Amino acid sequence: RTIHLADYRPTDFVLERVDLTFELDPTETKVEARLIFHRREGVAPSVPLVLDGDDLTMTSLLFDQIEMDPARYTATADSLTIRDLPASEPFEITITTQINPEANTQLMGLYRSNGIYCTQCEAEGFRRITYFPDRPDVLSVYTINIIADKDANPLLLSNGNYLGGAGYGEGKHFAAWFDPHPKPSYLFALVAGDLGVVEDTFTTMSGRDVTLKIYVEHGKEPRAAYAMDALKRSMKWDEEVFGREYDLDIFMIVAVSDFNMGAMENKGLNIFNDKYVLADPETATDQDYANIEAIIAHEYFHNWTGNRITCRDWFQLCLKEGLTVYRDHEFSADMRSRAVKRIAEVRHLRSEQFPEDAGPLAHPVRPNTYREINNFYTTTVYEKGSEVTRMIATILGAEDFKKGMDLYFERHDGDAATVEDFVKCFEDASGKDLSQFALWYSQAGTPHITVSTSYDANAATLSLSLDQMVPATPGQATKEPMHVPLSFALLCHDGSELTATAISGGTVTGNVLHLSERSQTFVFSGVTSRPVVSLNRGFSAPVVLHFNQSNEDLAHIARHEGDLFSRWQAITDMALPSLTAAASAAAKGDAVAVEPSLLSSLLAIAANEALEPAFRAQALTLPSESDIARAIGKDTDPDAIHAGRQAVLAAIAKAGEAQFEALFKTHSSSTAFTPDAEGAGRRALRNAALGYLSLSKNSPALASEAYAKADNMTDLAQALTILAHRFPDSSETAAALANFEQRFGSNALVLDKWFTIQATIPGEATLDRIQTLMKSTHYAASNPNRVRALVGTFAFSNPTGFNRRDGKAYHFFASQVLEIDQRNPQLAARLLTALRSWQMLEPNRANSAREALQIISSGSELSNDVRDIVDRILKG
Ligand code: ARG
Ligand code: ZN
Repeated sequence: RTIHLADYRPTDFVLERVDLTFELDPTETKVEARLIFHRREGVAPSVPLVLDGDDLTMTSLLFDQIEMDPARYTATADSLTIRDLPASEPFEITITTQINPEANTQLMGLYRSNGIYCTQCEAEGFRRITYFPDRPDVLSVYTINIIADKDANPLLLSNGNYLGGAGYGEGKHFAAWFDPHPKPSYLFALVAGDLGVVEDTFTTMSGRDVTLKIYVEHGKEPRAAYAMDALKRSMKWDEEVFGREYDLDIFMIVAVSDFNMGAMENKGLNIFNDKYVLADPETATDQDYANIEAIIAHEYFHNWTGNRITCRDWFQLCLKEGLTVYRDHEFSADMRSRAVKRIAEVRHLRSEQFPEDAGPLAHPVRPNTYREINNFYTTTVYEKGSEVTRMIATILGAEDFKKGMDLYFERHDGDAATVEDFVKCFEDASGKDLSQFALWYSQAGTPHITVSTSYDANAATLSLSLDQMVPATPGQATKEPMHVPLSFALLCHDGSELTATAISGGTVTGNVLHLSERSQTFVFSGVTSRPVVSLNRGFSAPVVLHFNQSNEDLAHIARHEGDLFSRWQAITDMALPSLTAAASAAAKGDAVAVEPSLLSSLLAIAANEALEPAFRAQALTLPSESDIARAIGKDTDPDAIHAGRQAVLAAIAKAGEAQFEALFKTHSSSTAFTPDAEGAGRRALRNAALGYLSLSKNSPALASEAYAKADNMTDLAQALTILAHRFPDSSETAAALANFEQRFGSNALVLDKWFTIQATIPGEATLDRIQTLMKSTHYAASNPNRVRALVGTFAFSNPTGFNRRDGKAYHFFASQVLEIDQRNPQLAARLLTALRSWQMLEPNRANSAREALQIISSGSELSNDVRDIVDRILKG
């Protein structure tokens, strides 16, 4: 069944109140839902009430407290239809269902993870709890009663404020919660069990005290300290930057170990994958700390962008996700280094979203049709959605953007809103017409922009010609030209910025060039010598630029740009041609030559003490193998790409050996570990140097020593990665892997790193290793983090291992997807997207990949989730 945006209409019945009573039991939980409805004005009395269900068993149905005549309703596992309902006055429906949390392996609805009852209702999980109008535009006020065994479940939590509780018969107790804020069902949450807690308070800008609680497994409380700190900083930041204050007396976070996604913004009761809560220096890397900070902020920020203002329907998902990602990006940029954060965002966008946008799964930021909404929690909706919000800020400028946000909060508080509502606020606040810009929401595909310049010394003018092309994507053969805001600078010979006036060709505001036609030439006057053009500064638009700048010009940008992002981009632009050339050389068995200006620019940045270490580390991290594959575009050979890239790395390692020794020494000094950006940057630079040194010395000795000396997880995991990836068969690697397993055998989250490091060892042999690791007692096929750490990282992040020539890894992967699908369709469908770029591979591999996809497609009991993805990937 396909759902279309154009078919949206409001419900026939309005839901006034929701009262839920849960009698918790691991296998036989009873849910009583008392729902008060009235018929919407103008809806004919003959129209029945149709409620959503999923895999439900109903044990009783009352109408105004009296058992309902079976002739008046039809109940199936996935819907409940009730006829002959009052024309206008309110009525009460009481539904009792029985569910089995223990058997809920999909992790949607109410399930049990490690003895903890918890829920995940977004997008359509609530209908697995009770029959309900389970859609985001049905907002209601909820009262929740929870009854459970007292010993096993001292803790009974739900949304809103705690009303009270007491004993309840033999060995049981109950608790009642009330959430005064009307909300859709996807924001409902319940948690019960026995957990430890970390408590704190936050005083809001209007002086209200909010209790903060983070619940984790007993004994893990100290590892929640950083998450608590990040939460308080998020609350403060949202007040200062967006003027948003928290609105309940209590804010709770619960960490669970089995979770399909990162976390969930349930009103007042966020539920988290414990990977994004728990951290200490011994077990968490700098990346883990940064992720925790970002995700804690993201879920907290949803309280306004998502909860107070929610989505009218699931097509509007980017309304809350794109905006909230934008907000968490800005938060992290303020907490850390803005430039380094931007580089990381763009790397992520290019490696995850660009391939999605260029392949069979491409869809608009706001899709207009779906078969399974779970498959639309994508990097396009999230990350490109965030970029679209960022472009609005760029086009409007900070002041008008703020006015637009304020208007959005004021106008739509309490609404289930649309993308149109959102854009209209910025138009009204700024007086600007954003109708062409809005194509970013409806047209899929990454725009390609071809750039050329010509300089006229006599007229002292510079012409900048731009052509835009948005590639065809599934369901969208032709595209309209987009409004692309391109931030730019004209750099003079001495590195200073030229302020020139645009005399013709289009609109330029400040340092932003507004490309709006298919082809446009901007002419600047008063340009007395040929400048170097730095275009798409700060990655102001999520596009691919085709701009053949000379290595001298790129080196000039790498040396002089005031915008650090653009300096990094210039290095990347210099590196990519070397890397693609190296790949073709490697394919032919030729020697690989590395552009000298790339070497000197890179080493100059690495040595530049005036630059922050984190930035220098980014410059030393070359484009990834998948970046290179994308630059090549078709008939790609992952082995050649890998070999070519390794050869370039080796050349850099040789050329910079002395410098890397010095860097490694200076930044190894043992100061006490702090998880801040500054410390993380020093470790990143040190470990980048260690990687190069290990290459130039071609020996595991240094990494092995670094492993032995490491006093924090970042250094430890980096040393282990270098050992395993560069020297997989060495005795040093075997010893370190065994040591790591023995040291962290009881910590599942740390073992995930052990799985991942091994799953991403380049080369054919890794498939065997993975099959052996799956038999390890540490592996648990029912735990999404474990599956992602082993099978997921293999498929997504091991190009040579996954794409081995004989196709065996694809077949292994197909059987995994089919097996996982039986238990957890969402997880299986997500894994399967790893094959989305199969058509870019050289024909032999492409054929094997297609065979594997066909095996999946002919699976006998495919979930809707996997069916949707496999059909789209195969159709191309
Ligand atoms: N809204 C959550 C977040 O981004 C993600 C939940 C997605 N859940 C799902 N079942 N698809 O913070
Ligand atoms: Zn979100």
